[in-house]
Amino acid sequence: MAQAKILAICGSLRKASFNRRILAFAVQGAREAGGEVEECDLDLPLYNGDIEAQGLPPKVVALRDKIAAADGLLIAAPENNHGLSAALKNAIDWASRPPSVWPGKVAASCGATSGLFGTVRASIQLRTTLAAVQVTLLPQHVWVSQVHKKFDDQEKFGDTEAIQKLKELGALLVKTVGVTAVAVAS
Ligand SMILES: Cc1cc2nc3c(=O)[nH]c(=O)nc-3n(C[C@H](O)[C@H](O)[C@H](O)COP(=O)(O)O)c2cc1C
Repeated sequence: MAQAKILAICGSLRKASFNRRILAFAVQGAREAGGEVEECDLDLPLYNGDIEAQGLPPKVVALRDKIAAADGLLIAAPENNHGLSAALKNAIDWASRPPSVWPGKVAASCGATSGLFGTVRASIQLRTTLAAVQVTLLPQHVWVSQVHKKFDDQEKFGDTEAIQKLKELGALLVKTVGVTAVAVAS
């Protein structure tokens, strides 16, 4: 099989996002497993049917094209008020508009919060929403609680167990995408 194409999606727009930083370990795992990983920009206009009726904004088209071209999705889902971040939900909504680019994709997720429950609640919403758009989300959500306490003064992430799990998550996605592609082809 050709190299698995993975799209890394960070649900936080913040440059110094903890979610972006933990996603990097999953990306590393995916690359080490042979995947080709691309990143994307979720800084999109808010979904509005009137904007859509005038034609999709270029950033939305770019995101939709990247999702369509990907075999697998590596998603970092922050938790805002016990739910998905607006940026991530907005991107899922834009890309679901007909013709939706989501059906048949396989995804793996992780998330980091400053709180004690490390995106567990947001991960449940993510699973529900991805099911609605026909994306298969692997069961292994990797979550990191109290993430702000796990970076040292040099901004180095010290949770070695989480790093290992994140790398394994990226590798698992690449492996699963390969198996799915073989199953679909035969
Ligand atoms: C609007 C808002 C809502 C939040 N809600 C939660 C929450 O429900 N649970 C939680 O653990 N942390 C919550 N947080 C704290 C975030 O986990 C924390 O800011 C985290 O660093 C955000 O991810 P990022 O660093 O990737 O941007 C919230 C933060 C914001 C800005």
